[in-house]
Amino acid sequence: MGAHRLALLVFLATLPQLLLAGTTRYYTFNVTMQKVTRLCTTRAIPTVNGKFPGPKIVTREGDRVVVKVVNNVKHNVTIHWHGVRQLRTGWSDGPAYITQCPIQTGQSYVYNFTITAQRGTLFWHAHVSWMRATLYGPIIILPKSGVPFPFPKPYKDVPVVFGEWFNTDPEAIIAQALQTGGGPNVSEAYTINGLPGPLYNCSTKGRVGTYDNTTVAAILEYAPAGHIKSRPLLWPTLPVFNDTAFAANYSAKLRSLASPDYPARVPARVDRPFFFTVGLGTTPCPTYQGCNGPTNDTMFSASMNNVSFNMPTTALLKAHYDGNTAGVYTSDFPATPTEPFNYTGTPPNNTNVANGTKVVVLPYNTSVEVVLQDTSIQGAESHPLHLHGFDFFVVGQGGGNYDPSSHPAGFNLLDPVQRNTVGVPAGGWVAIRFFADNPGKVIHTPLGKTAQTDELEMGLLD
Ligand SMILES: *[C@@H]1O[C@H](CO)[C@@H](O)[C@H](O)[C@H]1NC(C)=O
Ligand SMILES: *[C@@H]1O[C@H](CO)[C@@H](O)[C@H](O)[C@H]1NC(C)=O
Ligand SMILES: *[C@@H]1O[C@H](CO)[C@@H](O)[C@H](O)[C@H]1NC(C)=O
Ligand SMILES: *[C@@H]1O[C@H](CO)[C@@H](O)[C@H](O)[C@H]1NC(C)=O
Ligand SMILES: *[C@@H]1O[C@H](CO)[C@@H](O)[C@H](O)[C@H]1NC(C)=O
Ligand SMILES: *[C@@H]1O[C@H](CO)[C@@H](O)[C@H](O)[C@H]1NC(C)=O
Ligand SMILES: *[C@@H]1O[C@H](CO)[C@@H](O)[C@H](O)[C@H]1NC(C)=O
Ligand SMILES: *[C@@H]1O[C@H](CO)[C@@H](O)[C@H](O)[C@H]1NC(C)=O
Ligand SMILES: *[C@@H]1O[C@H](CO)[C@@H](O)[C@H](O)[C@H]1NC(C)=O
Ligand SMILES: *[C@@H]1O[C@H](CO)[C@@H](O)[C@H](O)[C@H]1NC(C)=O
Ligand SMILES: *[C@@H]1O[C@H](CO)[C@@H](O)[C@H](O)[C@H]1NC(C)=O
Ligand SMILES: *[C@@H]1O[C@H](CO)[C@@H](O)[C@H](O)[C@H]1NC(C)=O
Repeated sequence: MGAHRLALLVFLATLPQLLLAGTTRYYTFNVTMQKVTRLCTTRAIPTVNGKFPGPKIVTREGDRVVVKVVNNVKHNVTIHWHGVRQLRTGWSDGPAYITQCPIQTGQSYVYNFTITAQRGTLFWHAHVSWMRATLYGPIIILPKSGVPFPFPKPYKDVPVVFGEWFNTDPEAIIAQALQTGGGPNVSEAYTINGLPGPLYNCSTKGRVGTYDNTTVAAILEYAPAGHIKSRPLLWPTLPVFNDTAFAANYSAKLRSLASPDYPARVPARVDRPFFFTVGLGTTPCPTYQGCNGPTNDTMFSASMNNVSFNMPTTALLKAHYDGNTAGVYTSDFPATPTEPFNYTGTPPNNTNVANGTKVVVLPYNTSVEVVLQDTSIQGAESHPLHLHGFDFFVVGQGGGNYDPSSHPAGFNLLDPVQRNTVGVPAGGWVAIRFFADNPGKVIHTPLGKTAQTDELEMGLLD
């Protein structure tokens, strides 16, 4: 008894030291098929360790995370640690054919990275084809031991992960969309923590009737233990899903702390400005049978500065590392649109896009500004931009066309919000700034709702 207590005391005394130094957290992600039932439909889906959503990673700022991913399904798999800064660990970032070749059936891969200067909740997901539809989960990053969050300590944390449920195989859906050039079939439900909530048919016992498929709901009950009672639900009044003005108003209120402990290192000066149009164009239908683009002889094609991304078969990072880029990528991605037009006005007559695997290579520590301009070529849409392994500051946004002579005067360079993903407003623009201080990282836009899963990659390879 005495010896046990002593051992425990010693353990408690050394634990904070270990945590301050940064510990290594080991995980094994076994990708296996698992039968899951949602909306009265049972499907075998790819999962991590049989869980849907997948297991959470819990770590602390300063820790090393080592995840061995074992692929036991018939599809190729990679895992991306969305929002993790991955300083000098580009091989562990996860996007297929950008920083690694996919993990093939029966193979494994070890992701090994350190959490640096980050805390909060991020998420991991598969990053090849549409495998992310079922392979995803939260990453919880606690502050260093003994360091509080910059807000009052919560009584309890509940990770909330948004997703979608498909009654059919998502891989068949994206394969069909890529072939026909039409928009991919939409999911049957939006989900919270893998569950469709009470609004959908067959989501809970006996629920039938009309529902709003732009919405998903979950009910969080909180009360002293043993005191949870059934009460009438008070549904909040929500803005409609496409209320861009409301969303812009809300986003404009978000700010960085910009305090001595949590400074906002916004580039005040820009070495390399970029202006990228983002949106859908067209590609001629390769078959005579007809396609499902805006006309039956065209396919929808996502592009940036009119370049649609060709997925390489050699990972970009490997080609760069080997110094063998010929035939993999070219470093001539245009810094501005080659043929300017009224981006939010009447589309040009010829909407066909060019294609290629083009990147921008930047010297280390370049200060970068990227203005992303939505185009209305096939209808204005909000497209998300995510930087792999980077955070950036959102210094300005607005509707209509970006005006380089007047808009920069309104930029917030003091305490703008720091993010790893931003929605380019439908029919508008957004300006971001960051230092290219993370060698081997790549920018891309996961363009939603498009036939092509085209992603445009801007490589920061030096
Ligand atoms: C992964 O799961 C499969 C199927 O359940 C099992 O046969 C295998 O032993 C597991 N592998 C690891 C590394 O856990
Ligand atoms: C899986 O990855 C390998 C290696 O990159 C590749 O050769 C193969 O075509 C991929 N399979 C599919 C179905 O994409
Ligand atoms: C993770 O990376 C570190 C630094 O390169 C290395 O020392 C360690 O051995 C790696 N761990 C594994 C399990 O690969
Ligand atoms: C997509 O939806 C269409 C129309 O409902 C259907 O005919 C087609 O089979 C679906 N495709 C897949 C891959 O489920
Ligand atoms: C939900 O179920 C009702 C009753 O069966 C049916 O009329 C309705 O079309 C269903 N809605 C959807 C979106 O499936
Ligand atoms: C909602 O359902 C309608 C009719 O089935 C469909 O056209 C629309 O795309 C769906 N919306 C979303 C956001 O899934
Ligand atoms: C939102 O979409 C509806 C159709 O689903 C449309 O009638 C309405 O004009 C749209 N609102 C905005 C602000 O775009
Ligand atoms: C946006 O905010 C302004 C000022 O707070 C307000 O007047 C306006 O009604 C808001 N617009 C929307 C669409 O919420
Ligand atoms: C394509 O559309 C044209 C004009 O609407 C029509 O005449 C033609 O039959 C269509 N072709 C196919 C293969 O559907
Ligand atoms: C661009 O098109 C929009 C919508 O038609 C129009 O309001 C705007 O004046 C046009 N801008 C220019 C510079 O022509
Ligand atoms: C587009 O086509 C229309 C109708 O053929 C023509 O009037 C217009 O000049 C064309 N616009 C451009 C920019 O070529
Ligand atoms: C891609 O561009 C090349 C010319 O650079 C062209 O031959 C090819 O047809 C294009 N492919 C698509 C799908 O647009």
